Amino acid sequence: MGEKLLLRALKGETLPVPPVWMMRQAGRYLPEYRATRAEAGDFLSLCYNPELAAEVTLQPIRRYGFDAAILFADILLVPQALGAELWFETGEGPRLSTITTPAEMDRLKPADAIHEHLAPVYETMRILARELPAETALIGFAGAPWTVATYMIAGRGTPDQGPAHRLMAEDRATFDALMGRITDATIEYLSAQIDAGAEVIKLFDSWAGSLKGEAFDAYALEPARKIIEALKARHPGIPVIAFPREAGERYIGFAKATGADCVALDNSVDAEWAARNVQVDGCVQGNLAPGHMITGGQDLVDETRRIVRAFANGPHIFNLGHGITPDADPANVELMLQTIREG
Ligand code: CP3
Repeated sequence: MGEKLLLRALKGETLPVPPVWMMRQAGRYLPEYRATRAEAGDFLSLCYNPELAAEVTLQPIRRYGFDAAILFADILLVPQALGAELWFETGEGPRLSTITTPAEMDRLKPADAIHEHLAPVYETMRILARELPAETALIGFAGAPWTVATYMIAGRGTPDQGPAHRLMAEDRATFDALMGRITDATIEYLSAQIDAGAEVIKLFDSWAGSLKGEAFDAYALEPARKIIEALKARHPGIPVIAFPREAGERYIGFAKATGADCVALDNSVDAEWAARNVQVDGCVQGNLAPGHMITGGQDLVDETRRIVRAFANGPHIFNLGHGITPDADPANVELMLQTIREG
């Protein structure tokens, strides 16, 4: 058997048909996911149950034959492993105990103390490495430090990341200490995922778009560069996908500046523009708007073809611009795959 398609694209190969997977491909739009989640009890119990977490990771692979599986877990398990409280309010999203003072910062655990708490996640990865089909690549992931910090500082998701920007402005020392702790913990966590079988790493910086100018350099670009450098030093050749969501113009040069093998493009970025300005440096991933998974039809087919064509002259991994939503129709995923694979 030849090398997995996703790994070939990440090495810079232009393939006749792009490999494809979807952010949040294991999720509530699938009835089999909802059944397994009910069996686990709740979302966090599912994340920490290796057999069931591996099962939901495999569900979309069985149903659709994606070219990659992404570990089922959440970016907020790292703050929890550092000692923050974490729970999910039904219908609202995550809640955490907040870190905004030097005293709260001091109570966090050191970066290398996270492994005991995260051991079930590593076990999920080991199960997946054994059970995945031979042609499917295995992706591990973490949140990028800025995005994780926005949740740790605010204690919840925020529309404009206001509390994190405020701490950055008012107590830079505490903000930097938190960013540093998350960065070190992320290196530890991802390194352990690779030891457990991850073949690709993805860094999710969902809120990178709210960082501008020097703040983008210091808190989106530099932490990604540091994490990628450390991972590649410990695990030579490990490919990394960086997702500085809504970075806009700052997508240009991001891969070169951070050492990422691929940048993931959100759906606010025009594919032709990105082919000219971002794909020139290597592999890109993206960037169909997730809304098409709800609406389907000819628009979905046309837009899928347009993206495939725009990126056809360089390395490309087809994906959505953000996660698939719970109200998506599983039949539209099938239509997207057919369109990509049958032209
Ligand atoms: O992509 C995958 O399938 C892998 C698993 C994965 C999840 N979350 C599972 C999940 C990944 C990679 C994430 C990343 C994540 N988590 C991000 C970054 C990517 C992004 O979407 O911007 C963020 C910001 C989080 C934090 C988080 N987790 C939020 C804000 C929420 C609530 C919003 C929601 O969709 O309900 C979650 C919950 C979550 N994480 C779910 C899943 C499948 C839904 C939980 C459920 O089953 O109720």
